[in-house]
Amino acid sequence: MTHLGVEICGLKLKNPTMLASGVLDETGRSMLEVACAGAGAVVTKSVGAQPRHGHPSPCIVELQDGLLNAMGLPNPGIDIYAAEILEAKMGGVPVIGSIFGGDEREIADLASKMQVTGVDAVELNLSCPHAKGYGAEIGSTPELVESVCKHAKRACSIPVFAKLTPNTSSISSLAQAAERGGADAIVAINTLKGMAISPVAKMPILGNKVGGLSGPAIRPVGVRSVYEIFEAVKIPVIGVGGISCGYDALEYIMAGAVAVQIGTGVWSEGVGVFGKVCREIMQFMDENGYSDISEMVGVAHPARP
Ligand code: SIN
Repeated sequence: MTHLGVEICGLKLKNPTMLASGVLDETGRSMLEVACAGAGAVVTKSVGAQPRHGHPSPCIVELQDGLLNAMGLPNPGIDIYAAEILEAKMGGVPVIGSIFGGDEREIADLASKMQVTGVDAVELNLSCPHAKGYGAEIGSTPELVESVCKHAKRACSIPVFAKLTPNTSSISSLAQAAERGGADAIVAINTLKGMAISPVAKMPILGNKVGGLSGPAIRPVGVRSVYEIFEAVKIPVIGVGGISCGYDALEYIMAGAVAVQIGTGVWSEGVGVFGKVCREIMQFMDENGYSDISEMVGVAHPARP
């Protein structure tokens, strides 16, 4: 009998798929829809201390093999967003609250407020590549990553996940720093910093000029990152980047991910992508003699002595 359920830091997921932060998670209703469509967990939009409009449009460029976005972390602020989480919780799957802040104090305060909303875990956005003073600007040095994780952990009693940037020479050093800071799990990766230029307009297309690339084009970077992190830390790793079918998810799982997040795949395929990925994973397990997801986690690595 094939078993798709996974447990991450005490959170019980009926399957290893999660909605990634940033797509279909602005409202409780859209997260509820994703939960009802079969996701094992949902992650909220990244939320800050104050309302924020985000970057000027255009904010998204659709490419052949992915999306380039420069949303700029738009959100209504934690106090107003709390009502959306209440609705998302009705989906009956773990809800993970994504937060961003400009320093340790702000992030700790947000972690504590996020816990009060009733979320099951907090995800620290240490990786948005296009928001001045936030995201990757906080998450690119091991010292700051360690310190931010430490402060977030002190401020709440639910699990803390650190979502890391691939725009670095050593994502495994960032993961080790998060682990030292007490993070309970690593989420890898966020988008790759990029730009698109219109030859006709002779200027960058995005209002912010620079954005983050997601979708199938970045999957090899995500898989490589998870592979490296798996060898560098003991805490669980959650893989994200370019997943839209069972094989994509299996790549991440065999690299060492205990679960996967799907964002741009929801954009391109709709909420049915969660069911599709699960069915294809199950079929692979049946055909290859696996009965539990855990039997496949990290099997692409040489056997440890
Ligand atoms: C955004 O909302 O600006 C995207 C979030 C991210 O890249 O982390």
